[in-house]
Amino acid sequence: MKIFLDTAHVDSIKQWADTGLIDGVTINPSLLSKEKHDYKTIVKAIHGMLPDVDINLQVTETDPQKVYDQAHAYQSLIKRRPITVKIPAHRNYYPAIRLLAREGIAINATLVFSYLQGLYMSKLGVRYVSPFIGRIEDQGEDGIGLVAQLVSGLAEYETEVLAASIRTVEHMQASALVGAHIATVPAEVLEKSAQTLLTDQGMKKFADDWAKVVKRK
Ligand code: E4P
Repeated sequence: MKIFLDTAHVDSIKQWADTGLIDGVTINPSLLSKEKHDYKTIVKAIHGMLPDVDINLQVTETDPQKVYDQAHAYQSLIKRRPITVKIPAHRNYYPAIRLLAREGIAINATLVFSYLQGLYMSKLGVRYVSPFIGRIEDQGEDGIGLVAQLVSGLAEYETEVLAASIRTVEHMQASALVGAHIATVPAEVLEKSAQTLLTDQGMKKFADDWAKVVKRK
């Protein structure tokens, strides 16, 4: 499973930049609202740190024609690495999504809450569909179940399933186990997923025992 960081916070991304774990970054307007820099500066900073990662930037326009134009405008933000454009999987945007996909622009269909919504997006040719696990659970429904349905149901399409709205390590692990192609995770969740209490304790014991051997010499 590929791992994307779900943040616009450049310093959080920096913490993970040299680990080799990060395949992409997802940014939405809510994440941008927490930052003081504008999105162009943020995108350039991410690209500067991690030139090969897939940066997914969400449209902020709402009129379909403007969404289409903005998707194109995003393509010139950085050189050599096209931006993946996040567009809400909304009926109003079907024609624009179809056209953009045909033009070869990578689209992440965001705000996906049902299997059929994901299927329609795949039929339009998007690269990723993003089911929102946490928000689905907020409705008392099964977010991981939807990820699993999309993984098996969309296998005949090129589309990859990007598990989003991940709030816990359990969400991340369950996404991997049901075959999500990608999980986008907040930096705090990724940090928590890498905590290794028993490994820490084991390392300490090995170090203590080795110190005894050294002392004997
Ligand atoms: C990522 O692409 C999504 O925008 C993000 O995971 C949404 O997460 P939230 O439901 O915690 O806002």
